[in-house]
Amino acid sequence: MIYKNITIEVKEGVAIVKVNRPKALNALNSETLEELKRVPEELENRKDVKVVVITGEGDKAFVAGADILEMKDMDPVQGMAFSSKGHEALSKIENMGKVVIAAVNGYALGGGFELALACDIIYASDKARFGFPEVTLGIHPGFGGTQRVSKLVGLAKAKELIFTGKMITAEEAFNLGLINKVVPHDELMEEVFALAETIKGCGQIAIKLAKECVGKSLSLSIEEGLKLEAANFGLCFGTKDQKEGMTAFVEKRKPVFKGE
Ligand code: CAA
Repeated sequence: MIYKNITIEVKEGVAIVKVNRPKALNALNSETLEELKRVPEELENRKDVKVVVITGEGDKAFVAGADILEMKDMDPVQGMAFSSKGHEALSKIENMGKVVIAAVNGYALGGGFELALACDIIYASDKARFGFPEVTLGIHPGFGGTQRVSKLVGLAKAKELIFTGKMITAEEAFNLGLINKVVPHDELMEEVFALAETIKGCGQIAIKLAKECVGKSLSLSIEEGLKLEAANFGLCFGTKDQKEGMTAFVEKRKPVFKGE
């Protein structure tokens, strides 16, 4: 597929997706959201892609938010449509059947923070900054921030972040439980590839099924969640990967998973 504001490079089973509007600090306009929506559609069925990494072009920003220039003159109907477009793109990323890692290389603000939160695992450079500056612009988070953050850190912390618009460091985001790891800026991609390597070596169907269970755990009751877990656990036993994984254990060798 041809993209204008996104680049995709596939290297040894890992797709590196870069938001590529460095002049606007990779801000998300409608066109970029449309392209982001197409990324999971393109990568989902590619056998040569096991793990997806999302990052921002340049050294300064992951994504500095939704595009303020585009939003400036919107009316309420356009504002709602823009929010829905963001929800659609980020939900597609969140629900991909592959692990998506956010490599946060700089500012992750507003819609950029929300994009990172739609990913499964967030690794951040020690130079990264997170925050929801929306209220300083007279709006509030619109790409899922008001819903996803409280589920992660509880209402009190979510309200403080959203009501103040204050930026926090990567270390603070880590201490709040919003991100997985903070690494020295120059080692970010190296650390992300090491993580991807570990994930690539495991059973990909099992990961996909586990991702569905964990993803839905926040919205299902415990009874419903356990039913889903039992069903997906059962599905694992219909895969060649399960036979290979357990046979390899018994034979004391490394498994060779084929994602089948
Ligand atoms: N939208 C559009 N353009 C943006 C942008 C954004 N979100 N963020 C940065 N840019 C542009 C700037 O306008 C500037 O363009 P020009 O060179 O043409 O003037 C360029 O990127 C570089 O930015 P700065 O000169 O401002 O860089 P800086 O280093 O001085 O500051 C910054 C960096 C603190 C990130 C600052 O750019 C900033 O505050 N950006 C806006 C962040 C923000 O408010 N994000 C939330 C947007 S609202 C949202 O996301 C809603 C939602 O939930 C859906």
